[in-house]
Amino acid sequence: EATGKSGYDHFMLKEIHEQPRALRQCLQGRVDELGGRVSLDLDLDVERVQFVACGTSYHAALYGAALFRAAGVPAQAFFAHEYAVATPPIEDDLVVGVSQSGETADTLSALREARGRGARTLAVTNVVGSTMARECDDALYIRSGPEIGVAASKTFSAQLAALNLLALHTVGAGDDDRREVIAALRDLPGDVQALLDDTDAEAVAREYVDSDGFFFIGRDKSHPVALEGALKLKEISYAHAEGFPAGELKHGTLALVTEDTPVFAVVTGDGEAARKTIGNVKEVEARGAPVVAVTDGESDVARYADHVLEVPETHARTAAVLANIQLQLVAYHVANELGRSIDKPRNLAKSVTVE
Ligand code: AGP
Repeated sequence: EATGKSGYDHFMLKEIHEQPRALRQCLQGRVDELGGRVSLDLDLDVERVQFVACGTSYHAALYGAALFRAAGVPAQAFFAHEYAVATPPIEDDLVVGVSQSGETADTLSALREARGRGARTLAVTNVVGSTMARECDDALYIRSGPEIGVAASKTFSAQLAALNLLALHTVGAGDDDRREVIAALRDLPGDVQALLDDTDAEAVAREYVDSDGFFFIGRDKSHPVALEGALKLKEISYAHAEGFPAGELKHGTLALVTEDTPVFAVVTGDGEAARKTIGNVKEVEARGAPVVAVTDGESDVARYADHVLEVPETHARTAAVLANIQLQLVAYHVANELGRSIDKPRNLAKSVTVE
């Protein structure tokens, strides 16, 4: 097993460091930068989209739905277990199952329900020949290579990259500049490597390892990153953590914010989402909470932060991937400090094959 870990203490840490390669594999042969084109082996006419997924893959689905909406296409992400029992109306929707394993029972059940109601289905998965890939009309593989750690890391990043390819291929980039998105995707593996080579995540983890609880906030494309940051920390460290769309914190949870609850604020770019999230950062700062800003430095969020975890400057779409990797590292190092069973957390299975 030690050999399998290539010298890393845990599979999860190895898989975090494999992300540049996982992303290269995902993009390989699918992006023609000169022509500004993305080519996938999929022939889809997309009018509307419903995503179904669970856990980390649901966070990727939220991000994917945002990409389609940005291109003017109605799109929504659903928890697969809810979708299976309370199926929304399907009107010419493409129903996309996002699943690392391709075997998650809840997601399979939602896709079967959608198929039964006449929807065309697409599996976005890592596992060639998985049940989901076989049962859906089409499959888009994220090509991360095998992931051993129960906590998803490299597969989440590759899901976000693959969903960008899917949106570009089927509905375009919307208000974003297509060539800029493609260039950012091309640069992403190198940007991830630069982040991995120079990160303060371990120091931040040590500083806050004994906290009462952790909050993660972000807006727009940083919202799924906040949710994923909290899930990762919970799964492997057993600390209490919650992720929110940044504007939601003041509608209740702010009551829990104290000087012993660090707030991780994901703030990239300097647009409206960043500006408003900085407003929320000031609210928690005023309650004495330590603030860790995960940022590309384009806004002035660092002024209100106790610590900064930097991400290389890039497009808003790829910034989400990079910010999430800082949070993966924080979760890993908190769990490691606490001596947790990182690759096999208690009560959890890599693939949940029961509903
Ligand atoms: C993520 O770290 C977890 N392992 C879990 O939330 C997982 O994403 C979920 O069970 C869905 O699995 P899938 O991607 O294989 O469908």
